[in-house]
Amino acid sequence: MKTIIANWKMNVGVRESVALARGTLLTLRGRKHLPELVICPPSVALSEVRKVVARSGALLGAQNVFWEEAGAFTGEISARMLQELGVTHAIIGHSERRHQLGETDEMVNKKVLHVLEHQLTPILCVGETKQERQAGKSKEVVLGQLKAALSGVRLRPSDHLLVAYEPVWAIGTGESATVADIVEMQSSIRSLVQEILGERTLSQLRVLYGGSVDGENAYGFLREKEVDGVLVGGASVKINQFRDIVHAACEVLEAQT
Ligand code: 13P
Repeated sequence: MKTIIANWKMNVGVRESVALARGTLLTLRGRKHLPELVICPPSVALSEVRKVVARSGALLGAQNVFWEEAGAFTGEISARMLQELGVTHAIIGHSERRHQLGETDEMVNKKVLHVLEHQLTPILCVGETKQERQAGKSKEVVLGQLKAALSGVRLRPSDHLLVAYEPVWAIGTGESATVADIVEMQSSIRSLVQEILGERTLSQLRVLYGGSVDGENAYGFLREKEVDGVLVGGASVKINQFRDIVHAACEVLEAQT
Protein backbone atom coordinates (compact mmCIF):
# COMPACT_ATOMS: atom_id res chain seq x y z
CA MET A 1 0.00 0.00 0.00
CA LYS A 2 1.10 3.56 -0.69
CA THR A 3 -0.36 6.65 0.93
CA ILE A 4 -0.58 10.02 -0.79
CA ILE A 5 -1.40 13.00 1.39
CA ALA A 6 -2.44 16.30 -0.15
CA ASN A 7 -1.63 19.18 2.19
CA TRP A 8 -3.29 22.18 0.60
CA LYS A 9 -1.93 24.47 3.34
CA MET A 10 -3.51 27.96 3.26
CA ASN A 11 -3.62 28.04 -0.52
CA VAL A 12 -7.30 27.57 -1.31
CA GLY A 13 -10.58 28.95 0.01
CA VAL A 14 -13.81 27.01 0.39
CA ARG A 15 -15.00 27.29 -3.21
CA GLU A 16 -11.59 26.47 -4.65
CA SER A 17 -11.29 23.54 -2.23
CA VAL A 18 -14.52 22.03 -3.52
CA ALA A 19 -13.33 22.31 -7.12
CA LEU A 20 -9.90 20.97 -6.23
CA ALA A 21 -11.40 18.04 -4.32
CA ARG A 22 -13.48 17.13 -7.39
CA GLY A 23 -10.40 17.33 -9.61
CA THR A 24 -8.37 15.32 -7.12
CA LEU A 25 -10.90 12.48 -7.11
CA LEU A 26 -10.85 12.40 -10.90
CA THR A 27 -7.16 11.48 -10.77
CA LEU A 28 -8.21 8.08 -9.36
CA ARG A 29 -10.57 7.30 -12.24
CA GLY A 30 -9.91 4.23 -14.34
CA ARG A 31 -7.01 2.93 -12.24
CA LYS A 32 -7.09 -0.57 -10.84
CA HIS A 33 -4.76 -0.33 -7.89
CA LEU A 34 -5.30 2.85 -5.95
CA PRO A 35 -3.15 4.42 -3.26
CA GLU A 36 -4.73 5.56 -0.02
CA LEU A 37 -5.51 9.23 -0.53
CA VAL A 38 -5.84 11.71 2.32
CA ILE A 39 -6.96 15.25 1.49
CA CYS A 40 -6.09 17.99 3.99
CA PRO A 41 -7.90 21.21 3.08
CA PRO A 42 -7.87 24.36 5.22
CA SER A 43 -10.14 23.79 8.24
CA VAL A 44 -12.81 26.20 6.96
CA ALA A 45 -13.30 23.95 3.92
CA LEU A 46 -13.46 20.60 5.72
CA SER A 47 -17.24 20.28 5.79
CA GLU A 48 -17.69 21.18 2.11
CA VAL A 49 -14.86 18.91 1.00
CA ARG A 50 -16.37 16.14 3.10
CA LYS A 51 -19.47 16.25 0.90
CA VAL A 52 -17.33 15.85 -2.22
CA VAL A 53 -15.22 12.96 -0.94
CA ALA A 54 -18.12 11.11 0.72
CA ARG A 55 -18.29 7.53 -0.57
CA SER A 56 -15.21 8.06 -2.74
CA GLY A 57 -12.71 6.14 -0.67
CA ALA A 58 -10.60 9.27 -0.18
CA LEU A 59 -10.03 10.27 3.43
CA LEU A 60 -10.16 13.66 5.09
CA GLY A 61 -7.32 15.11 7.14
CA ALA A 62 -6.91 18.27 9.21
CA GLN A 63 -3.80 20.44 8.93
CA ASN A 64 -3.69 21.00 12.68
CA VAL A 65 -5.47 20.09 15.91
CA PHE A 66 -5.46 21.27 19.53
CA TRP A 67 -4.84 18.97 22.49
CA GLU A 68 -7.70 19.92 24.83
CA GLU A 69 -11.24 18.55 24.62
CA ALA A 70 -13.06 21.90 24.88
CA GLY A 71 -12.89 25.20 26.73
CA ALA A 72 -11.48 28.71 26.50
CA PHE A 73 -8.95 28.17 23.70
CA THR A 74 -9.75 30.86 21.18
CA GLY A 75 -9.23 29.80 17.60
CA GLU A 76 -8.40 26.18 18.36
CA ILE A 77 -10.12 22.99 17.17
CA SER A 78 -10.23 19.70 19.09
CA ALA A 79 -10.05 16.16 17.77
CA ARG A 80 -13.69 15.58 18.66
CA MET A 81 -14.75 18.61 16.58
CA LEU A 82 -12.71 17.32 13.66
CA GLN A 83 -14.33 13.93 13.98
CA GLU A 84 -17.73 15.53 13.69
CA LEU A 85 -16.58 16.75 10.27
CA GLY A 86 -15.58 13.28 9.16
CA VAL A 87 -11.87 13.83 9.66
CA THR A 88 -9.76 10.68 10.16
CA HIS A 89 -6.22 12.09 10.04
CA ALA A 90 -4.45 15.13 11.49
CA ILE A 91 -1.13 16.64 10.47
CA ILE A 92 0.89 17.36 13.61
CA GLY A 93 4.18 19.19 14.00
CA HIS A 94 4.47 20.48 10.47
CA SER A 95 7.67 22.49 10.17
CA GLU A 96 5.70 25.59 9.20
CA ARG A 97 3.97 25.40 12.57
CA ARG A 98 7.15 24.53 14.43
CA HIS A 99 9.16 27.34 12.88
CA GLN A 100 6.63 30.09 12.21
CA LEU A 101 4.17 29.55 15.04
CA GLY A 102 6.47 28.34 17.78
CA GLU A 103 5.10 24.82 18.08
CA THR A 104 7.38 22.92 20.46
CA ASP A 105 8.13 19.21 20.86
CA GLU A 106 5.99 19.25 23.98
CA MET A 107 2.99 20.70 22.13
CA VAL A 108 3.48 18.16 19.34
CA ASN A 109 3.51 15.35 21.91
CA LYS A 110 0.26 16.57 23.51
CA LYS A 111 -1.39 16.69 20.11
CA VAL A 112 -0.26 13.16 19.21
CA LEU A 113 -1.62 11.81 22.51
CA HIS A 114 -4.88 13.71 22.07
CA VAL A 115 -5.64 12.53 18.55
CA LEU A 116 -4.80 8.91 19.33
CA GLU A 117 -7.15 9.06 22.29
CA HIS A 118 -9.87 9.99 19.79
CA GLN A 119 -8.90 7.32 17.26
CA LEU A 120 -7.64 9.80 14.69
CA THR A 121 -4.44 8.94 12.84
CA PRO A 122 -1.58 11.37 13.46
CA ILE A 123 0.52 12.42 10.49
CA LEU A 124 3.55 13.35 12.52
CA CYS A 125 6.01 15.58 10.67
CA VAL A 126 9.70 15.61 11.53
CA GLY A 127 12.63 17.20 9.72
CA GLU A 128 15.85 19.11 10.08
CA THR A 129 16.69 22.64 8.90
CA LYS A 130 19.42 23.43 6.41
CA GLN A 131 21.76 24.62 9.17
CA GLU A 132 21.19 21.45 11.17
CA ARG A 133 21.88 19.39 8.08
CA GLN A 134 25.07 21.33 7.32
CA ALA A 135 26.18 20.76 10.91
CA GLY A 136 25.74 17.00 10.37
CA LYS A 137 22.87 16.87 12.86
CA SER A 138 20.02 15.66 10.65
CA LYS A 139 19.54 12.32 12.38
CA GLU A 140 19.96 13.72 15.86
CA VAL A 141 17.30 16.38 15.20
CA VAL A 142 14.80 14.12 13.45
CA LEU A 143 15.08 11.30 15.96
CA GLY A 144 14.95 13.80 18.83
CA GLN A 145 11.68 15.23 17.47
CA LEU A 146 10.30 11.72 17.02
CA LYS A 147 11.26 10.59 20.51
CA ALA A 148 9.69 13.68 22.08
CA ALA A 149 6.52 13.32 20.02
CA LEU A 150 6.04 9.70 21.05
CA SER A 151 6.57 10.21 24.76
CA GLY A 152 3.85 8.34 26.68
CA VAL A 153 2.28 7.00 23.47
CA ARG A 154 0.80 3.50 23.40
CA LEU A 155 -0.73 2.25 20.19
CA ARG A 156 -3.84 0.12 20.46
CA PRO A 157 -4.07 -2.62 17.83
CA SER A 158 -6.53 -0.54 15.80
CA ASP A 159 -4.36 2.63 15.81
CA HIS A 160 -2.16 3.80 12.99
CA LEU A 161 0.76 6.18 13.04
CA LEU A 162 2.07 8.04 10.01
CA VAL A 163 5.46 9.69 10.28
CA ALA A 164 6.45 12.06 7.50
CA TYR A 165 10.12 12.85 7.08
CA GLU A 166 10.02 16.39 5.73
CA PRO A 167 13.41 18.10 5.69
CA VAL A 168 12.70 21.81 6.18
CA TRP A 169 15.17 22.80 3.45
CA ALA A 170 13.25 20.68 0.93
CA ILE A 171 9.82 22.17 1.59
CA GLY A 172 8.63 24.44 -1.18
CA THR A 173 12.16 24.90 -2.52
CA GLY A 174 12.18 22.56 -5.51
CA GLU A 175 15.15 20.82 -3.91
CA SER A 176 14.14 17.37 -2.69
CA ALA A 177 16.20 14.97 -0.59
CA THR A 178 17.91 12.11 -2.41
CA VAL A 179 16.28 8.70 -2.40
CA ALA A 180 19.30 7.31 -0.53
CA ASP A 181 19.02 9.97 2.21
CA ILE A 182 15.30 9.36 2.55
CA VAL A 183 15.61 5.59 2.75
CA GLU A 184 18.35 5.88 5.37
CA MET A 185 16.38 8.34 7.51
CA GLN A 186 13.23 6.27 7.22
CA SER A 187 15.05 3.17 8.37
CA SER A 188 16.30 5.08 11.45
CA ILE A 189 12.74 6.31 12.08
CA ARG A 190 11.44 2.73 11.92
CA SER A 191 14.12 1.48 14.31
CA LEU A 192 13.35 4.19 16.84
CA VAL A 193 9.59 3.59 16.67
CA GLN A 194 10.26 -0.11 17.20
CA GLU A 195 12.46 0.71 20.18
CA ILE A 196 9.90 3.08 21.75
CA LEU A 197 6.59 1.44 20.89
CA GLY A 198 7.62 -2.17 20.37
CA GLU A 199 8.10 -4.42 17.35
CA ARG A 200 4.41 -5.30 17.22
CA THR A 201 3.59 -1.71 16.24
CA LEU A 202 5.72 -1.72 13.08
CA SER A 203 2.77 -3.00 11.07
CA GLN A 204 0.77 0.04 12.27
CA LEU A 205 3.47 2.49 11.18
CA ARG A 206 3.80 4.15 7.79
CA VAL A 207 6.78 6.32 6.99
CA LEU A 208 6.33 8.94 4.29
CA TYR A 209 8.52 11.51 2.58
CA GLY A 210 7.61 15.15 1.99
CA GLY A 211 9.50 18.06 0.45
CA SER A 212 9.21 19.26 -3.16
CA VAL A 213 7.52 16.08 -4.33
CA ASP A 214 6.15 16.65 -7.83
CA GLY A 215 4.85 14.79 -10.84
CA GLU A 216 8.35 14.13 -12.11
CA ASN A 217 10.15 12.88 -9.03
CA ALA A 218 7.29 11.06 -7.26
CA TYR A 219 7.84 7.71 -8.96
CA GLY A 220 11.47 7.64 -7.85
CA PHE A 221 10.39 7.93 -4.20
CA LEU A 222 7.32 5.75 -4.36
CA ARG A 223 9.02 2.78 -6.03
CA GLU A 224 11.20 2.36 -2.93
CA LYS A 225 9.83 -0.35 -0.70
CA GLU A 226 10.75 1.66 2.41
CA VAL A 227 8.81 4.75 1.27
CA ASP A 228 5.20 4.12 2.25
CA GLY A 229 3.98 7.27 0.58
CA VAL A 230 4.42 10.99 0.10
CA LEU A 231 3.14 14.16 1.74
CA VAL A 232 2.63 16.73 -0.97
CA GLY A 233 2.30 20.50 -0.57
CA GLY A 234 2.64 22.77 -3.61
CA ALA A 235 2.02 20.06 -6.20
CA SER A 236 -1.21 18.98 -4.48
CA VAL A 237 -2.98 22.19 -5.52
CA LYS A 238 -1.82 21.84 -9.15
CA ILE A 239 -4.07 19.16 -10.48
CA ASN A 240 -1.85 18.09 -13.40
CA GLN A 241 1.08 17.62 -11.06
CA PHE A 242 -1.02 15.82 -8.53
CA ARG A 243 -2.46 13.50 -11.17
CA ASP A 244 1.07 12.47 -12.13
CA ILE A 245 1.90 11.77 -8.48
CA VAL A 246 -1.23 9.64 -8.00
CA HIS A 247 -0.54 7.79 -11.24
CA ALA A 248 3.06 7.16 -10.19
CA ALA A 249 1.69 5.46 -7.05
CA CYS A 250 -0.79 3.46 -9.16
CA GLU A 251 2.03 2.28 -11.43
CA VAL A 252 4.11 1.17 -8.49
CA LEU A 253 1.14 -0.71 -7.03
CA GLU A 254 0.23 -2.25 -10.37
CA ALA A 255 3.82 -3.43 -10.87
CA GLN A 256 3.68 -5.19 -7.50
CA THR A 257 0.71 -7.37 -8.44
P1 13P B 1 6.04 21.08 -0.81
O1 13P B 1 5.53 19.83 -1.45
O2 13P B 1 5.41 22.33 -1.34
O3 13P B 1 7.53 21.13 -0.77
O4 13P B 1 5.55 21.03 0.71
C1 13P B 1 5.76 19.87 1.43
C2 13P B 1 4.99 19.95 2.66
O5 13P B 1 5.24 20.78 3.51
C3 13P B 1 3.86 19.02 2.83
O6 13P B 1 3.39 19.03 4.12
